Amino acid sequence: METVIAKIIEGEDSKNRQKIEAAARILREGGLVAFPTETVYGLGADALNPAASAKIYQAKGRPSDNPLIVHISCMEDLEKIAARVPAGARKMAEQFWPGPLTMIFEKRGNVPLETTGGLATVAVRMPGHPVALSLIQAAGGYIAAPSANTSGKPSPTLAEHVAQDMNGRIPMILDSGAVGIGIESTIVDFSEKIPMVLRPGYITPDMIKKVIGEIKIDPGLAEENSGTRPKAPGMKYKHYAPKAELILVNGAQEKVQQTINDLAREAALSGKAVGVIGTDESCSSYRYGIVKSIGARSDEDTIARHLYGILREFDQKDVDIIYSESFSTPRIGPAIMNRMLKAAGHQVIEV
Ligand code: TXA
Ligand code: MG
Repeated sequence: METVIAKIIEGEDSKNRQKIEAAARILREGGLVAFPTETVYGLGADALNPAASAKIYQAKGRPSDNPLIVHISCMEDLEKIAARVPAGARKMAEQFWPGPLTMIFEKRGNVPLETTGGLATVAVRMPGHPVALSLIQAAGGYIAAPSANTSGKPSPTLAEHVAQDMNGRIPMILDSGAVGIGIESTIVDFSEKIPMVLRPGYITPDMIKKVIGEIKIDPGLAEENSGTRPKAPGMKYKHYAPKAELILVNGAQEKVQQTINDLAREAALSGKAVGVIGTDESCSSYRYGIVKSIGARSDEDTIARHLYGILREFDQKDVDIIYSESFSTPRIGPAIMNRMLKAAGHQVIEV
């Protein structure tokens, strides 16, 4: 199958409209289309068509017990797939939709079990990207979409990343350039009495507490519980992983740099191809391997936006081992570290 990459170009409104319409037609006919959202690129299918959802699992090589997020474009459509929308969830929607927030509800009968990985609940998100919103509307209102990577690979933040994984497997990629956020949406489960954060993201627990008060955080997310099964089925997999081994070094900046230099030197001397992930501030102090900056340490939005792209760049350079600083920044640091720890298979050196 040939994969068409349709570029969305600012100012070319009627051509863009045609491209989105062509993508929507593929979706309505039960096919797959990759499309941009503000978090990462998604791999879409008609969420209410069981055969279409099943194709997603095949294209990604995704385990069939890992449910998909249903993307909508308006509140009325939420009521048609969620059996009960609690008042707290309505407040959250008012505050954060369209945006990088996914909420989980008891599902209605029209949502196929193929879409929910066999669960009685459904995850729903109204994305804050104009192309995504137009596509959802044109396709009939409900697009099931996981991140558009091969299962286990870093999520795609550029259409090129989608093409690396999906070329020849899907008929079309809508290309809107780089995404804005770069890590997947925050997931909050409203199917329980006290809402629970199942995946950290750009919308932080503090932001959520300000809107609805008491929340829980899935205990399975805590680093010390890395053996406990998280509530979101997808969070249990080693995920977001580059081909190379990734090792995080955590501690005081100076010691971190020294340790990374020592380790990188040793690995290079033993004949390994080495990568180093630092920041704008620290990169000039690294002496060994291919050194890449993830951005300024003070700018956590940029760090989040560059994370997956850097891991993919190292894959393309065929490095064997990557040493990275850790980024426990104040606001979205926990969301960034959640992804990095998984990519590293929880290998952290404390210094
Ligand atoms: O930002 C995002 O959320 C992106 C874009 C494309 O919207 N999508 C995304 O989808 O990250 P995916 O499939 O890569 O991650 C969905 C996560 C998985 O961990 C899955 O297990 C969880 O959501 N999930 C989906 N439905 C669920 C449910 N009913 N109960 C618990 N977890 C659920
Ligand atoms: Mg994913």
